[in-house]
Amino acid sequence: MNIIHIFQLQLRCDCMLGMIVACDRNGAIGRNGKLPWKQSTDLKHFKNITLNSNIIMGRKTWESLPGKLPKRRHFVLSRNNVENVETISFDDALKLEGWIIGGGEIYKLFLPHVKTLHRTIIDTRITGADTFFPDITGMGFELIEQKQISAGENDQFDMIFQQWER
Ligand SMILES: NC(=O)c1ccc[n+]([C@@H]2O[C@H](COP(=O)([O-])OP(=O)(O)OC[C@H]3O[C@@H](n4cnc5c(N)ncnc54)[C@H](OP(=O)(O)O)[C@@H]3O)[C@@H](O)[C@H]2O)c1
Repeated sequence: MNIIHIFQLQLRCDCMLGMIVACDRNGAIGRNGKLPWKQSTDLKHFKNITLNSNIIMGRKTWESLPGKLPKRRHFVLSRNNVENVETISFDDALKLEGWIIGGGEIYKLFLPHVKTLHRTIIDTRITGADTFFPDITGMGFELIEQKQISAGENDQFDMIFQQWER
């Protein structure tokens, strides 16, 4: 990566958005419109990070939720009207402070613009996954914290909590 490229990345992530994702060892994040695992400890981690913030997601991720998550303001990207939730354009979402929470299309769209990335690596390789998180190699992220977590009684797999910054 040359100096001009690094400078461009810094300019582009001059917004107040972070991103949070859980993926397996192959980058898989979804299967048939759902999460492909049961990981209660990761859901708690997600809650700790996103509580009292704006959360921004794609329409398909919105439809995968059981409803609105407490104490968070929800924004959904869609090219159509979506009932019972605020919709937002990509350009307006870039002006918000908050968290990009998925799914695959929306991660890809916002990844060049976020400063912080919380990525949980679920210690497995899921079969039949149909949605993936992009490879972040060469995108200017630096791993600043990594924590190994053993599976609790309501988790299927061990996991690693990572925090990346640029
Ligand atoms: N493991 C994780 O951390 C995690 C997190 C979140 C989601 N997921 C999983 O990811 C999967 C869903 O991901 P996905 O990629 O299929 O869908 P998605 O990213 O959640 O949503 C895609 C939709 O977003 C809208 N959209 C995309 N680009 C847009 C733009 N530029 N402007 C306006 N609207 C735009 C479109 O909605 P319209 O079609 O309505 O126009 C599109 O169909 C599910 O399996 C879910 O469980 C996993």
